[in-house]
Amino acid sequence: MALHRILVADDEESMRWVLSKALRKKGYTVDLAADGNEALRQVREQSYDLAIVDIKMPGMTGLDFLDKAREVRSDLLVVVMTAEASMKNAVEAMKRGAYDYITKPFDLEVVDAIIEKVSRARDVSHQVSMLKQELKDRYQVEKNIVGNSPAMREVYKTIGKVAVSDVTVLIQGESGTGKELIARAIHFNSARLGKPFVAINCAAIPKDLLESELFGSERGAFTGATERKTGKFEQANHGTIFLDEIGDMPLDLQAKILRVLQEQEITRIGGSQSLQVDVRVVAATNQELLEKVRNREFREDLFYRLNVVPIHLVPLRERRDDIRPLVEYFLDRASAELETPPKQCSDEAMELLCNHSWPGNVRELENTIKRAVILSSDLLLTPADFGGLFDRQQTLHAVPQEQSLEAIVEAKLRSSMNGVEKLDKGDIYDRVLEQVERPLIRLILEKTRGNQVRAADVLGINRNTLRKKINDLGIQLKKD
Ligand SMILES: Nc1ncnc2c1ncn2[C@@H]1O[C@H](COP(=O)(O)OP(=O)(O)OP(=O)(O)O)[C@@H](O)[C@H]1O
Ligand SMILES: [Mg+2]
Repeated sequence: MALHRILVADDEESMRWVLSKALRKKGYTVDLAADGNEALRQVREQSYDLAIVDIKMPGMTGLDFLDKAREVRSDLLVVVMTAEASMKNAVEAMKRGAYDYITKPFDLEVVDAIIEKVSRARDVSHQVSMLKQELKDRYQVEKNIVGNSPAMREVYKTIGKVAVSDVTVLIQGESGTGKELIARAIHFNSARLGKPFVAINCAAIPKDLLESELFGSERGAFTGATERKTGKFEQANHGTIFLDEIGDMPLDLQAKILRVLQEQEITRIGGSQSLQVDVRVVAATNQELLEKVRNREFREDLFYRLNVVPIHLVPLRERRDDIRPLVEYFLDRASAELETPPKQCSDEAMELLCNHSWPGNVRELENTIKRAVILSSDLLLTPADFGGLFDRQQTLHAVPQEQSLEAIVEAKLRSSMNGVEKLDKGDIYDRVLEQVERPLIRLILEKTRGNQVRAADVLGINRNTLRKKINDLGIQLKKD
């Protein structure tokens, strides 16, 4: 990796002039600073490959600059210049982490030699750090996926099979089953390892921004587009793009994604030329995509184009063998992260954890363990440390609960929207909330015998808010 941008800081103007002229002639971009403070400001704003600074400057000395600059950018290489041939300054600079020093006056060849040395060192260290990162990523992914159930073993086999090719993979599974983790594993086990892995959550980004996020935009493409922006596909070039929650992608964008998949090229918004991209696509969803295809909310052609290799992540409750190793894994990890001595689960607690239904799957299990490790002061976690989890009785042995309020409301809402094709501007939000708020407030007022102060307390809202709601919602107050 060659050097590009160099910062020269010296209070002597002639020195700045000589150095900048020589360095620019060699093709480097050179910025100048007249003192240490100015130099530091520039380091904050720009990424430099090298800084050449004078030791004696007004305001902040070169040595102080060295300390402060490396706080901002720990990898900045700094060469210091000393006017007097004083060994003491040079030694001090090296002790503080300078890369090298030059004594003034010097020949420009000395500077050339140093830059040459820096280039070579950076080349080697860059390669070493790339290799290290690759090894670390691969190692991490393998260590990070826990579970040896038959269902997970199938998943591992598929990861292995798709690793060697560029086929598109569609990962389906409930929330928290590890879809993103598997997507990363596919990338880090493929030949694209070391190239970017770019994830984008299609559900989290507002619809009208999603297109420019994915494909980028040219300057002036729309109001506010003051600069050219590269999209995720471009960023992922030669690597993998992870299209998370693809089920939420609007239909018009689905058509555009299909085109990218077929032609391997994109056009930035407002751009006229198409760009070739080489990107492997992994998509994920927690919705029944086929169902969406049937409802014409998802393009059938895109579904088949994505679903070349499907991976189904089974809910945790259907692969209970994995729970115990996951509990142990998360216990270790939480203890290490929180720097507490390793904690363990009592047999009784483990049995309860293994029998829980885990509607939030692995994510819920992970959070539950973390919380217990933080809150308990004991090294052995007992059922009590898992608080309300088991009272909510979602365990297998428990009597099946009647449907939750949320489930009932959802079913009701869905059926009321059935067959509605076109959505108009409206006030659904308020109208629906009213229907929940009204019965709730009525009930609590009944239970508190119309005492508004108590009712507000029970509801956990402000007294004035309650009064306003009673008014707005037209709730009749019964006097007794
Ligand atoms: N098999 C597993 N081994 C270890 N950790 C796992 C495993 N599966 C999931 N996890 C962990 O559980 C958490 C949730 O996983 P992930 O984010 O991949 O799930 P997801 O399916 O993408 O969820 P969502 O649909 O909510 O986005 C992460 O912290 C992940 O590391
Ligand atoms: Mg996810």
